Amino acid sequence: MKALQEKIKQDGLVLSDQVLKVDSFLNHQVDPVLMKKMGEEFARLFRKDGVTKILTLESSGISPALMAALELKVPMVFARKKKPLTQSADVYTATVHSFTKNTTHEIIVSRAFLTNRDKVLIIDDFLAYGQAAEGLIDIVKQAGANLSGIGIVIEKAFQPGGERLRSRGIRVESLAVIQSLKNGTVSFLEEAYAN
Ligand code: G4P
Repeated sequence: MKALQEKIKQDGLVLSDQVLKVDSFLNHQVDPVLMKKMGEEFARLFRKDGVTKILTLESSGISPALMAALELKVPMVFARKKKPLTQSADVYTATVHSFTKNTTHEIIVSRAFLTNRDKVLIIDDFLAYGQAAEGLIDIVKQAGANLSGIGIVIEKAFQPGGERLRSRGIRVESLAVIQSLKNGTVSFLEEAYAN
């Protein structure tokens, strides 16, 4: 997605060979116009798939997921990382380990919001090692729901998540695919993969 690539080039900060900081438009401050365009693009890619629900993980997945949900006119559910006061015991849980942050936490989704009648599109901000996606896929499986695919805002192709998911036949659509962050420079794969 050209507008996203341009925004990353303009406002993204390369913190290391591994990490891109995009908190001026995605991870902290949020650019609603760009988010809307992303929602339209995810909707275009998955419109024919009969998606009934969008699933993401708090916090940074929520903005693009909500915009896609608005376009597809389906509810968006975000997995929580902390159990809220009002949470019923009737939940799906999965464990997510972050290699980037070296943390492990449980993610939680109420059984009331995901059932075996759902066709689920998972959306997240980054795809690195794929651990967040794996945790969400685990929850989709527990619900007996159908997985339509995964929509990612920024995929880092030099980390193994995308390849691992695609090699299992899972459809992964990334709006921007970064080939390298070497020498403080963002290089994109010219075309986002699709399968
Ligand atoms: P994975 O889910 O693909 O395995 O990725 P990983 O464990 O490596 O990343 C975990 C967290 O770090 C995620 O955020 C993810 O969005 C973020 N992350 C990974 N690579 C980058 C990067 O290059 N730049 C930035 N800005 N973030 C990155 P999270 O812990 O879920 O945080 P949040 O959603 O609350 O913001």
